[in-house]
Amino acid sequence: MRRSPCLRYSFVMAWLSLPAFGRRVRSHWRALLTCIVFVSIAVFLMLTRPDALPESEALDVPVATSDNAPLRAANEFEAILDPSIRSVALFEEAGRVIRHPRCMNCHPRTDRPTQTDAMRPHLPWVAAGQDGGGGPTLRCASCHNADNFEPSGVPGNPGWRLAPLNMGWQGLTLGEICRQIQDPERGGMARDELLHHMREDSLVGWAWHPGGGRTPAPGSQDAFGSLIEAWIATGALCPE
Ligand code: HEC
Ligand code: HEC
Repeated sequence: MRRSPCLRYSFVMAWLSLPAFGRRVRSHWRALLTCIVFVSIAVFLMLTRPDALPESEALDVPVATSDNAPLRAANEFEAILDPSIRSVALFEEAGRVIRHPRCMNCHPRTDRPTQTDAMRPHLPWVAAGQDGGGGPTLRCASCHNADNFEPSGVPGNPGWRLAPLNMGWQGLTLGEICRQIQDPERGGMARDELLHHMREDSLVGWAWHPGGGRTPAPGSQDAFGSLIEAWIATGALCPE
């Protein structure tokens, strides 16, 4: 049901004819006063409006970007006899991939991806939108095609989109990420899904052939998958 325009008009008229400072002010002063009041309310609302999402954050947990050491293979951890200690050690090694900028740039805790090894906010400003694939008028796929485009260095994959907010990792410690990815209230992948995703998913796999002169994640997707498999087999325990 629409509110009658007449009713709205009478509110305005009532305000305009209110006595100001004990006497009726001249009509153009009233108009000016009304204008000032409305502008002040608008400015107040703009200044106090809570932002829907925080800005892309400066990372409080540093990420080692110059980490070029080869990824250690899962079987190198067999020397650790205590399975709980081995589990944590395996995840710490896998964490060198998980916390690499190639993965982290798509796993912010905002709706805006980050770019480069320094994980700067994505330029131009893009937002994840409903499905992570961008807003209705600026889709990720407008620029990110099915494959890396070498002439311009723009990375690509057919499924290019941002990880959902509840899978955001930037600024978390490795232990926090480890608990989050196993929390059904948040990420929600079952362990076999997680393993499959890490070992097989081609968006994850992009991190090892990122194109455009970017540093790839250490090791290979397969070696990373084996670390995750061995971590799950030893109880999927998390660092502190
Ligand atoms: C207007 C074009 C454009 C749109 C739209 C766009 N991007 Fe980008 N994106 C780029 C360019 C160009 C680069 C490369 C910048 C560089 O590496 O210096 C880039 C880089 C990235 C990177 C960094 C890769 C890395 O590890 O350095 C990520 C992540 C990314 N985009 C995600 C997204 C997501 C997610 C969307 C949609 C929500 C999106 N982009 C939409 C142009 C775009
Ligand atoms: C281009 C963006 C992009 C990149 C790069 C990327 N991811 Fe993701 N990631 C996603 C999206 C989107 C999802 C959600 C997938 C879904 O719901 O099917 C996701 C989900 C995940 C999940 C599930 C998390 C949870 O809480 O259940 C894991 C694990 C993951 N990614 C690992 C990685 C790793 C490891 C890398 C780097 C080697 C990586 N991702 C790189 C976009 C990306």
